[in-house]
Amino acid sequence: MRIDSQENSRSLQNSGSREPAEPARRPFLELLLGSSIVASLISYLYPVIRYLIPPAQAELGPDLVVAAKIGELRPNSGKIFPFGGRPALLILTADGKYHALSAICTHLGCTVQYRPDLHEVWCPCHNGVYSIDGANISGPPPHPLEAFDVIVKGNDLYVQRPQNT
Ligand code: FES
Repeated sequence: MRIDSQENSRSLQNSGSREPAEPARRPFLELLLGSSIVASLISYLYPVIRYLIPPAQAELGPDLVVAAKIGELRPNSGKIFPFGGRPALLILTADGKYHALSAICTHLGCTVQYRPDLHEVWCPCHNGVYSIDGANISGPPPHPLEAFDVIVKGNDLYVQRPQNT
């Protein structure tokens, strides 16, 4: 019986000497676990938040581009070209006049195209129709298309965003 009580007192002493080490590890492990949970939540939520809150409008880029060469377009035809990272539409009418417009429909943002049979600009998504000057004339588009200036320099056709002076 006496031996048992000595062993018990030793085991109590030993266990008493181990206890301080455990609380020192516990906060570290809790911090590690908490950090990994927060990192996981951020990695799941970030794409959702980026999807729900679109970035500010992208920079429109240069205000002047070469859209085509002289003679590249046949009369009564159109050409889509990139303008500041967005599609734009260059049109050569049957009577030889150039027009340049944004090719982004003002309804829901589809890309419009020139319709030689209609002599108008048409949006295939919801049958929106614009005049050759970009005015919205039928269908759901609520606003006209942005119009650009066309400048002939040498053999090139430049399209320029109108300068506000
Ligand atoms: S997106 Fe062009 S008419 Fe709807």
